[in-house]
Amino acid sequence: MSRKIHIYGNWKMNQLTSDIYQFFEELEDDKLAELKCQAGIAPQFPHLSLVKEKALTLGIKVGGQNCSHKNSGAFTGDTSPETLKDLELDFVLIGHSERRTVFNESNELINEKTLLALSLGLEVVFCIGETLEERESNKTFEVLKAQLDEGLKGLPKEKQSDIIIAYEPVWAIGTGVVASPPQAQEAHAFIREHLGSKHGFDEKSLIIQYGGSVKPGNALGLLSLPDIDGALVGGASLKPSDFYELLKVGSELTP
Ligand code: 13P
Repeated sequence: MSRKIHIYGNWKMNQLTSDIYQFFEELEDDKLAELKCQAGIAPQFPHLSLVKEKALTLGIKVGGQNCSHKNSGAFTGDTSPETLKDLELDFVLIGHSERRTVFNESNELINEKTLLALSLGLEVVFCIGETLEERESNKTFEVLKAQLDEGLKGLPKEKQSDIIIAYEPVWAIGTGVVASPPQAQEAHAFIREHLGSKHGFDEKSLIIQYGGSVKPGNALGLLSLPDIDGALVGGASLKPSDFYELLKVGSELTP
């Protein structure tokens, strides 16, 4: 494997200020300096600056969990990608399944957000994944294809390298039921091939993270697979010792 492993923590709607101070106190700077993989953290919006300040010297990228489809205006409660850029953040998660299901985000809206965030120079972690019902009715590839085709429509060629794909089967998120290595590998290989042949992506350099119940105990089995280049981690990223263990596995597998 020639790609650098990318392990990003999605803290979702968790962590108070005191938890964040404790998290960074427990992450030991000297140990992190030896890591070869790329780490990232997406905290809640009000904590972005604090986490950015704490993570700056550790080489950890920091990003938002979502952003608006517009840069400014009358959109009460929304945060623009321009503001994320203004805060010197590195990336933004777009299309997470919780945004798609709880907040009814469509592929069309996700497409608008993606193009805008990329145009501002943010890295986009573009999240896709099928529900259990879709998997059981053999619609996995059809769903992934539609999410990719509609969500990445109109993507300029020069922005392809600023996209990370996160494959997160909805049935594996927060359930403790992780995709089996063959299930994950099959989906990742499909995504890579599809983006290469239909969208002109450079398959060799494309980073595809797996997300859904990743823990220190199952990370090696997943990250060793040929088409898995990282992880998008929810629950286990909240605990500094678990997050560090995941970064260690990622570093061992990074060339
Ligand atoms: P869990 O790791 O808690 O299953 O969450 C995965 C996820 O949704 C990351 O974006």
